[in-house]
Amino acid sequence: MLILGIFAYQHDASACLIENGKLISFIEEERLNRERHSAAFPELSIKYLLKQHNKTLDDINYVTICWKPGLEIISNFVNVVKNFPKSLNLIKAGATQNEISLVSRLKKQFNLKEQFKKSGFKLNKKTKIIEIEHHIGHAASAFLVSEFEESAIITWDGRGENTSVLLSKGSGNQITKLKEIKIPESLGIFYSAITTYVGFKLFDEGKTMGLSAFGTDKYLKDFDDIIYKYENSFKINQKYFTYMTHGRNKYLSDLFVSKFGPPRKYNEKITQHYMDIAYAAQKKLEEIGIHLVKYLKKICPSENLCITGGVALNCIMNQKISETNLFKNIFIQPIASDAGTSIGGAYYLYNSILDYKRSYEFKNIYLGPSYSETEIEEYLTNKKLKYSKSENLFLETAKILSEGKIIGWFQDKMEGGPRALGNRSILADPRNENIKEKLNTIVKKRESYRPFAPAVLNEDKNTFFKMNYDSDYMILSADVVNDKKKLIPAVTHVDGTARVQTVKKDLNYKFWSLINEFKNLTGMPILLNTSFNENEPIVCHPKEAIECFLRTDLDFLILQNFIVKK
Ligand SMILES: [Fe+2]
Repeated sequence: MLILGIFAYQHDASACLIENGKLISFIEEERLNRERHSAAFPELSIKYLLKQHNKTLDDINYVTICWKPGLEIISNFVNVVKNFPKSLNLIKAGATQNEISLVSRLKKQFNLKEQFKKSGFKLNKKTKIIEIEHHIGHAASAFLVSEFEESAIITWDGRGENTSVLLSKGSGNQITKLKEIKIPESLGIFYSAITTYVGFKLFDEGKTMGLSAFGTDKYLKDFDDIIYKYENSFKINQKYFTYMTHGRNKYLSDLFVSKFGPPRKYNEKITQHYMDIAYAAQKKLEEIGIHLVKYLKKICPSENLCITGGVALNCIMNQKISETNLFKNIFIQPIASDAGTSIGGAYYLYNSILDYKRSYEFKNIYLGPSYSETEIEEYLTNKKLKYSKSENLFLETAKILSEGKIIGWFQDKMEGGPRALGNRSILADPRNENIKEKLNTIVKKRESYRPFAPAVLNEDKNTFFKMNYDSDYMILSADVVNDKKKLIPAVTHVDGTARVQTVKKDLNYKFWSLINEFKNLTGMPILLNTSFNENEPIVCHPKEAIECFLRTDLDFLILQNFIVKK
């Protein structure tokens, strides 16, 4: 049984293949078409998956997609009538999707077979396309591949067809809905709205989270009127927002602007005012998030919790949830964005609809493309680069890092999800206070306040970080132990937290070995780890890594065993 799971047309398009219940590959379309958060039909991803596994579309039994356009239409219709005529703005391009209008998107979604045809694919007549509700897809992407036999599940994002939060219970191979919170109430949209106010773009919510650490509680009381707990749910005061009538084209009302002043323009200085707004938004998000998690525990008293959906990328909120100690075990699906629903949809079909027993546990996130040394060497030669082949890669690289150099590190299969986890990473020495500035100047070209993340040997995590749970996929932040903060200034944020990746030998042998060699040399079991890119999707192909290396002032590029020095 071969299932092709896809996600398309919203953002974070992706595709995966599940063969007899095992996830054999996963890729985001942005990694191949090089368009960040691509909302395209995942044509390149599907071609890659089929070629990689020597399959044709005839081999595919089912295609799944986690969006029910019919359900969205009903919700949109009710909203358009309720907010008429202002709601007609929702039909404009960009209101519900980056480039195309609502109508042309829905048209595409309703005729998926046509989209396959347009991309040059001939779907077998026997291949069925199965639509699955968006939040069920999110929930399945966490629970059905978790280690838990039963679990409470929370999924939260901007919105699905009409749901923005789903509380559910997973048991065996089934998922039961317990409570749905629908738009206009949406934690994801609230946070996106504030993100645009503080001067960042869509999908830059992580920047708002980082900025919040510099804020004060100046506006916290004001925000009590904007978003607040309400019974077992929450409310967003629509007086301050316009997303129900203008979508992404205009999130905030004139009232919000008259109360808090004009939004920051992208290139304007970030003043304390915007830091305080970010702080208020982050605190309210955490307050409501914990309120919902407590309610979930009440209606589903499990020891286990699964979390996913775009809001689950907020690792500070994840930290706050973990610190409640309400659940003994927590699994946060690292591909928490909509891209992860291609996995969830395929598993929901396989386990919950077709009733196959669960047998797969998500541990390995390195599910993307890899390239042979012959291929890599060809690119290096073409670019006339001088390189050497290392006989002792980990030791040699650790020495380079200990000398304060910044390297691009490219190994084996690419990681899925938004974080670089040691196969397409830029690495540096976390002890060096100046490295952050150097990194921002020479390659990342990003806001100087933003923190970089530590990748720590799992064995040493508690020496440096206060953690109740592992963070194998860098989706949980943790407080840095007080007397260790000064030892790792490059990865300690202003509020004393760090977005940790706990590196395990059995999950990534090469990355673990490199950090271990660095520890042997320096005594420090940590490396600074940031994604290998320069304002683009993370590099996927060796040629993108080489181009990024040549464009920027990275000191070294290490591709498999090849070492290139600038
Ligand atoms: Fe979503």
